[in-house]
Amino acid sequence: MGKRPVDRSPLSPEEERFERHVRPQRLDDFVGQAASKETLRIAIEAARYRGEALDHVLLCGPPGLGKTTLAHIVAAEMGVNLRSTSGPALERPGDLAAILTSLERGDVFFIDEIHRLPHVVEETLYPVMEDFQLDIVIGQGPSARTIKLEVPRFTLIGATTRTGLLTSPLRDRFGVVCRLDFYRQEELEVIVARTARLLGVEIDAGGVAEIARRARGTPRIANRLLRRVRDYAQVRADGLITREVACQALALLDVDAEGLDKMDRQLLLTIIDKFGGGPVGLETLAASLNEDKDTIEDVYEPFLLQSGYLQRTPRGRTATPLAYRHLRRQPPADAQPRLL
Ligand SMILES: Nc1ncnc2c1ncn2[C@@H]1O[C@H](COP(=O)(O)OP(=O)(O)OP(=O)(O)O)[C@@H](O)[C@H]1O
Ligand SMILES: [Mg+2]
Repeated sequence: MGKRPVDRSPLSPEEERFERHVRPQRLDDFVGQAASKETLRIAIEAARYRGEALDHVLLCGPPGLGKTTLAHIVAAEMGVNLRSTSGPALERPGDLAAILTSLERGDVFFIDEIHRLPHVVEETLYPVMEDFQLDIVIGQGPSARTIKLEVPRFTLIGATTRTGLLTSPLRDRFGVVCRLDFYRQEELEVIVARTARLLGVEIDAGGVAEIARRARGTPRIANRLLRRVRDYAQVRADGLITREVACQALALLDVDAEGLDKMDRQLLLTIIDKFGGGPVGLETLAASLNEDKDTIEDVYEPFLLQSGYLQRTPRGRTATPLAYRHLRRQPPADAQPRLL
């Protein structure tokens, strides 16, 4: 723990501006994730019909798939304010109390990285989620007493990259749970084309397809690649992004034909070259790569697992035959069918 995953660093001012400009504002603009969208749409309509606050919502999935975006969309669709914080920022129950007492009825309270909520804060949250009652301890030692405060009925939206790290009492208190999956090629194409339109970037169908194909199933990466390819197109080509221009730019960015970046390849090559293809434990792998364990698990592994380059076994991670092929390595003899 300790070191924060790289992808969580605060957005740069350029990214902030970009986010405000391209982030979808309503459910209809949110591409893909049909099941989650439908679940949310029904819950929102029902809550609005009854004039009640929406049930608490848990959003799970790897970084960059749209959890923060969906939280904002839910608030917009409900027509309420959104207050946002993150698990590690709520250090004490008092931090929680300060926010809860400032909420208005129906508001959305968004807690990002909710799996990193300190234990005492999490326990304070249980009665709040269930009965909208906040227990505050006043004083210390024998004279300490607890007072109960009513808080307005609000909607808690929690986001987590890893459901596995959530305690079950917390998970069970969410009425709506949405799991976001990696996006399909067609969906990413819609996202790339939409972002290009909003940014006034000239791109043809081949350019859109190439960027979408190499975006690791992730809208954030698709948008990031689009911006970098646009820079390249402006400087080295005549501004129009074609498939060829995209391929040249992506090669410079070290994103390979399947969308794996330098770190993805380094991770797989470490398993293959240093550890005979695995299995190798996460700790050992992290030390070898000089990378944070959480970052490996949150940021790199989900896509490599999902696309079949990596396998998780009880004894550790192993590289699959697909990884060997992709990285042009000879699979170990015992992994090949033996000739009799
Ligand atoms: N379905 C979508 N359609 C269009 N754009 C999307 C979609 N989902 C995400 N994006 C874009 O991708 C970027 C990342 O989304 P977002 O910040 O919501 O991800 P996240 O799941 O909260 O990531 P993290 O776990 O790192 O906080 C944003 O710029 C957003 O505009
Ligand atoms: Mg987020």
